[in-house]
Amino acid sequence: TPRVTADVLLQKKRAGQPITALTAYDFPTARLVDEAGIDLVLVGDSVGMAVLGYENTLPVTMEEMLHHTRAVSRGVRRALLVADMPYGSYQASVEDGIRNAVRFVKEAGAQAVKIEGGRKHVDLIARLADAEVLVVGHIGLTPQSVHRMGGYRVQGKSAEAMDALCADAQALEAAGAIAIVLEGIPRELATVITARSGVPTIGIGAGPDCDGQILVFHDLFNLTFSAPAKFSRRYADGAEFFSRAIEQYRDDVAGRSFPSDAESYHLPREVQLPREV
Ligand code: KIV
Ligand code: NA
Repeated sequence: TPRVTADVLLQKKRAGQPITALTAYDFPTARLVDEAGIDLVLVGDSVGMAVLGYENTLPVTMEEMLHHTRAVSRGVRRALLVADMPYGSYQASVEDGIRNAVRFVKEAGAQAVKIEGGRKHVDLIARLADAEVLVVGHIGLTPQSVHRMGGYRVQGKSAEAMDALCADAQALEAAGAIAIVLEGIPRELATVITARSGVPTIGIGAGPDCDGQILVFHDLFNLTFSAPAKFSRRYADGAEFFSRAIEQYRDDVAGRSFPSDAESYHLPREVQLPREV
């Protein structure tokens, strides 16, 4: 199967075929997501909360993102592989942003990077295009802005905020972004942005009218140790699944029913244990 490219996503938008996207953070989950035929795999900085136990995404480092992106890259054959630029890796200067984005492509196998924010990053995105780095934009509820937003709040509810987000989407497209993640905005606004956008929109908490949808892997499987957000859907109870199996293993070891003789290695029939053993 040929690799999903930016053009494949664009053709899907134009054909009205939904783009499927999901996060992954390690080799086995990347294999499963890729083999299920998901179009886009994101190594999100949500790895900080989902896998590393941080309070929010702000502490996630370049080294952590590269480490997880490499693992995912080894498991992905078909999907477009996108890596999140972590907080602090592109805020100080355009040069920082270019150097760090190139690392994801050069050292970790990413096909594109994702950057939170709209108009304020058009210079960086244009320079990244010059440097042959594909960029996915991300606007609306941007988790790296948690302190400015005063929490994870739905964005774009006032006329001014809607104008600002429409301008951000237009600017991202003009700067060369290959897709735009719309997170935590009213469905009605996402519908308008998607209709006006020449590049695919990928929604999370942005309603059903986006060109595609993305969710966090651990939200799908109840592996977050918290109540699901309104926009998320739980497809299986992974916590229950793993807990039952772990408890069974614990009981089998404690009760000496694991391992069995059949799960043990044996000496060949002709070999005797030396007497001194
Ligand atoms: O980090 C992440 O998982 C994301 C998606 C939710 C879009 O940015
Ligand atoms: Na992210």
